[in-house]
Amino acid sequence: MSVKKALITGIAGQDGVYLAKYLIAQGYEVHGLVRWDSDVGAFDRLSRFGRLGVSLDDVTLHIGDVCDPHNTLDLFYHIRPDMIYNLAAVSHVAVSFKTPTAAFDVISTGTLNLLEAMRRLTPRARFYQASSSEMFGNAPAPQNEDTAMMPCSPYGIAKLSAYHLVRLYRAQYDVFAVNGILFNHESPLRAHDFVTQKIVQGVKAISAGRQDCIALGNLDARRDWGHARDYVRGMFMMMQSDVPDDFVLATGQMHSVRSFAEAAFACAGMTISWQGEGLDEVGIDDGGTVRVRVDEAFFRPQELHALCGDASKAQRMLGWQPSYDFQALVRDMMEGADV
Ligand code: GDD
Repeated sequence: MSVKKALITGIAGQDGVYLAKYLIAQGYEVHGLVRWDSDVGAFDRLSRFGRLGVSLDDVTLHIGDVCDPHNTLDLFYHIRPDMIYNLAAVSHVAVSFKTPTAAFDVISTGTLNLLEAMRRLTPRARFYQASSSEMFGNAPAPQNEDTAMMPCSPYGIAKLSAYHLVRLYRAQYDVFAVNGILFNHESPLRAHDFVTQKIVQGVKAISAGRQDCIALGNLDARRDWGHARDYVRGMFMMMQSDVPDDFVLATGQMHSVRSFAEAAFACAGMTISWQGEGLDEVGIDDGGTVRVRVDEAFFRPQELHALCGDASKAQRMLGWQPSYDFQALVRDMMEGADV
């Protein structure tokens, strides 16, 4: 039997690297799409591979862009992938408010270009779309596949449009295409401007005496944080199902940004207590030093207050279960190398 080929867009990101590692272990020939960058070229953004012990010799990288339909057709023509994992995105929600057109181009038009290329050139391939819990917006928690979606960011709206494209292509062209509606998932490979990694790196710098305090935005925001390692396994499981469908992956546990900070400081042997309210709230250590303060600059134009997923469909139909709980996730991030 010939070796199966997987194409991962957004392979340089946290999920791309975990997924590449997982697929290589499953015997796949892994191809990855990387955008060219005028400052660093295309391949200098691949440091995550080394950090996860994946050799770049084990992946075939292609310079390109999902926003360019000629490029996506060319990729499908030359690679003939059996599986496509579309992880390419402007993945930072706050950034999508500053560059909404770029967010729409890569997330929405990019997905359309890939689906078109697939239906024309490899109609029997399988397509995974990285849909997001951000699509739910402020719909009441817990959220599942049947919850009404009310996104409140350009990122969330672009993701919802891509989600509907996947459903349309599935219904209209009978292609195998799934939406993985993933709640927040983190790891030691997380970029430093997402709140979990920002806190983890801040706590480490404070412990080492390199920094005094972490400035954060909305401490009351609540998220359902899981581990990226569990979630890429879930992506793969969705692609093995008999019938294409949409699945939520989540832990079902919700914590505030404030409690993530407490847990990270606790891993470093520090206890944080909170004083004040709103913009004046501070987190103080045992010695009375302010270690967390609030900075308005990190608030979102529109805040998504509370996400907590109900992954019972994925548990029932795929047998997927997360193996990391909140404490294990925080510990793994705190034990990871500095980034
Ligand atoms: N980034 C950041 N920085 N967020 C902060 C900060 C801060 O200093 N202070 C508070 N927050 C709050 C944000 O307002 C948000 O409510 C929450 O922390 C989480 O922010 P992020 O870690 O940036 O993640 P996100 O929830 O906006 O988006 C992530 O999860 C989505 C799934 O729901 C990203 O990974 C998305 O790509 C993903 O789709």
